Amino acid sequence: MPPPEIDLTVYPADCDAFGHLNQAAFLALFERARWEMLGRGPGIGLFTREDAWPAVRKTDIEYHAPAFPADVLRFTQTLVHHGRTSFTMRQSARRVRDDALIASAEFVFVCINREGRPVKVPEGLSAFMTGTGVDPGTVRKVVVNGVSLAVDVRGEGPTILFVHGYPLDHTIWEHQLEHLRGWRRVAPDLRGFGVSDAPDLGYSMATYAADLAALLETLAVERAVICGLSMGGYVAFEMLRTVRERIAGLILVSTRAEADSAEGKRARDTAASLARDKGADAIAEAMLPKLMAPATRLDKPALVRRVRELMTGSPVSGIIGALGAMRDRADSTPLLPALEGLPVLVVAGEDDQITPAAEMKAMAETIPGAVFRTVPNAGHLVPLEQGENTTRLLQEFLDSLP
Ligand code: MLT
Repeated sequence: MPPPEIDLTVYPADCDAFGHLNQAAFLALFERARWEMLGRGPGIGLFTREDAWPAVRKTDIEYHAPAFPADVLRFTQTLVHHGRTSFTMRQSARRVRDDALIASAEFVFVCINREGRPVKVPEGLSAFMTGTGVDPGTVRKVVVNGVSLAVDVRGEGPTILFVHGYPLDHTIWEHQLEHLRGWRRVAPDLRGFGVSDAPDLGYSMATYAADLAALLETLAVERAVICGLSMGGYVAFEMLRTVRERIAGLILVSTRAEADSAEGKRARDTAASLARDKGADAIAEAMLPKLMAPATRLDKPALVRRVRELMTGSPVSGIIGALGAMRDRADSTPLLPALEGLPVLVVAGEDDQITPAAEMKAMAETIPGAVFRTVPNAGHLVPLEQGENTTRLLQEFLDSLP
């Protein structure tokens, strides 16, 4: 389960002489939302039990729109960084009536004991905050290549490594993680996403691929099937270039092999400026209309909300880093005809606007022996929008491997 959203009502006493919710009152409301959220989960005892008091070190608030007495604001809380003694929580407040974004904020906390000395962040915090339908007990932190990555590991058997797209995290694979049988499912948050570390610099396809190769090493996995969605597919291509001997099979979902065009590269830079100036919310608003099929947008509003939260919860440094890594990625089309002998499944959403099914079919046709499948009523986010169908396709493919 994801951490609960909290609804709070704006009282006249919270407002200024002009009748707006006062900027200073936001701090109190954000704090109350955090307390309420913890109260409905592990409680504040999560910290007091371990004598680890979370002291606010830094606050960044953006005020997007005014709110007025009697407005009900819905607060969401996401853990965007989890270090040894510190953590960063991103919060947003949307008005329930019209879903307008009223304010967003980031709070950096340092855990200190009674003597004021920094102490470890309690274990249970990350488990509680990274819920989103995935059993938090299966998510662990692994330090590889100089960063701490969150990774969900489940089941026994040969390994399938899931690589998520941009700007998302490993929870897009929740149905497959939960329901695939006979395989060890490994799904990390790439650096810069989810609850993995998000350094300011140092992002490239080569770095993501090296992180994942090191992760396999750490988990003592010699060979794995790699399953990448969109940017995850770009990472899979990079792994084919660098650690081909570790790859037992390939599943390409909603992705392409070509590098960015000149125009595409310019669009990456524009998006990076947008993220820098306006934050992850602006990226989410720009991407959301294109990401999911009309059927998903119509029938699954809770899923649409969740995808938005996933995106708005992404650290800006991770977003900017990924945009640069995608802009500078190599052309992988020359790799495709050389994949002879490697089992490959290509999966496209029938209504994908970002990587259209026709383009993915053309790509599959250049890979010797590749199986191509389309999924009805799915856009770009096939494994989330059509979890059951996707899991079934993957299970069939995996069961057919030698
Ligand atoms: C993704 O879903 O990972 C992105 O759409 C990939 C891209 O922008 O090229």
